[in-house]
Amino acid sequence: MNILIINASPRKNGLISNMLGIMRARIEEKGCNVEFVRANDLAVKPCTGCMSCRKSAKCVLPEDDSQRVLKLLQDADAVIVGAPCYWGNIPGQLKLLFDRMVYGMMRDTPRFPEPLMKGKRAILISTSTTPYPFNRLFNQTHGAIRALKEILGYAGIKLVGTIERGGTQMHPELSDKDRRKCEKLVDKLF
Ligand SMILES: Cc1cc2nc3c(=O)[nH]c(=O)nc-3n(C[C@H](O)[C@H](O)[C@H](O)COP(=O)(O)O)c2cc1C
Repeated sequence: MNILIINASPRKNGLISNMLGIMRARIEEKGCNVEFVRANDLAVKPCTGCMSCRKSAKCVLPEDDSQRVLKLLQDADAVIVGAPCYWGNIPGQLKLLFDRMVYGMMRDTPRFPEPLMKGKRAILISTSTTPYPFNRLFNQTHGAIRALKEILGYAGIKLVGTIERGGTQMHPELSDKDRRKCEKLVDKLF
């Protein structure tokens, strides 16, 4: 099994990075192949909104890291996306990336969009300084997860589970419970 991990946190020792590290180690223990991408290390130009990719299934912009990540996603059986909540949503660099990959993820038809990534599965994780239960009730981590569900849902990628970890300012360290949650969720892929 091939698993792609996309880390949208710029903080190398933040909670998202640490949770993804635990998940990565668990996957590697099972002998699966992991590709790991940090959104902030990518060179991706913003989508110009020309819509020509909807017909040609190609982007008119010069090739950059968005095509490379799209290929990794196409080759993956499952994707794990870690995104801290920024303004009740996902960080801009991750949004840029998904905007540029739209033609490989869904196809416009006169009626409903056609998903191009059926059969793949996803795990989503988000963090916020807003503590539980307000991170969920006020669409903080929940806003980031909702945005990711929208994107992956149109691609036909099935959700295996999510982790929403609030209160990161008051509790900046992962607890044993957080660690176990990460491992248990990853185990659902096998
Ligand atoms: C630009 C920016 C916007 C943010 N917006 C929110 C927000 O809307 N709600 C919130 O609770 N926390 C917000 N935060 C705080 C982050 O979600 C929080 O620091 C998170 O724990 C970072 O996770 P990480 O350590 O995994 O990167 C924001 C942080 C930044 C840098």
